[in-house]
Amino acid sequence: MNILAETDRLILREILSSDTSSMYEMYTDPLVLQYLGEKPFVHVQQAEEVIEFIRAQYIANGTGRLAVIKKDTNEFIGWAGLKYVTGSYNDHTNYYEVGYRFIQKYWGKGYATEAARASIDYGFSELMPDKIYAMADSGNKASRVVLEKVGMRYLEKFDLGGIDHDWFEISRTEWDQRRSEQHQ
Ligand SMILES: CC(C)(COP(=O)(O)OP(=O)(O)OC[C@H]1O[C@@H](n2cnc3c(N)ncnc32)[C@H](O)[C@@H]1OP(=O)(O)O)[C@@H](O)C(=O)NCCC(=O)NCCS
Repeated sequence: MNILAETDRLILREILSSDTSSMYEMYTDPLVLQYLGEKPFVHVQQAEEVIEFIRAQYIANGTGRLAVIKKDTNEFIGWAGLKYVTGSYNDHTNYYEVGYRFIQKYWGKGYATEAARASIDYGFSELMPDKIYAMADSGNKASRVVLEKVGMRYLEKFDLGGIDHDWFEISRTEWDQRRSEQHQ
């Protein structure tokens, strides 16, 4: 098992084909997909395809979304991590984006915040970008709270397919400073 990051309660490891049923559970829930413009899955095969897609990104880009595992129970609770975005969003292309998605029963316990923080740490220490970015539907209040709690800086709104989205970023310098303040 390839563990990329670890927090007090969570392990972030590569997504595996053995995660298919948990991924399917997550992607069949309309509330999980509410702000993502995606339709709920109706076939397990769709979850298999997403896993293959993510695993191909590990090879092509050296990173991708990671399975988030609860240490005490060994359960798959969702995914989090950095995606290398090659499309164009808010006039940015070829950048690292932090993201997360959890099975609904695990919401509201601080897991997204913990996993996002670990993902950004991993990104700045292993992938060496100058900045890490994030975006969220402006109506997705929980996601905005998570991004602000981990220190991402809100920059502006932009239009994505007719829907207002919020754009966030953090530089390596800002992240290092934040970490050193937390350790003082
Ligand atoms: C967004 C998501 C990842 C958050 O996960 P989570 O583990 O519940 O997040 P956390 O518990 O770390 O933090 C959520 C914060 O948002 C707050 N929050 C939740 N719903 C909120 C709302 N409607 N309005 C304001 N704040 C809200 C919570 O109170 C919490 O803040 P707190 O710790 O200060 O109390 C989860 O809801 C999810 O998987 N949603 C579906 C996928 C998705 O939208 N992903 C993000 C795409 S940009």
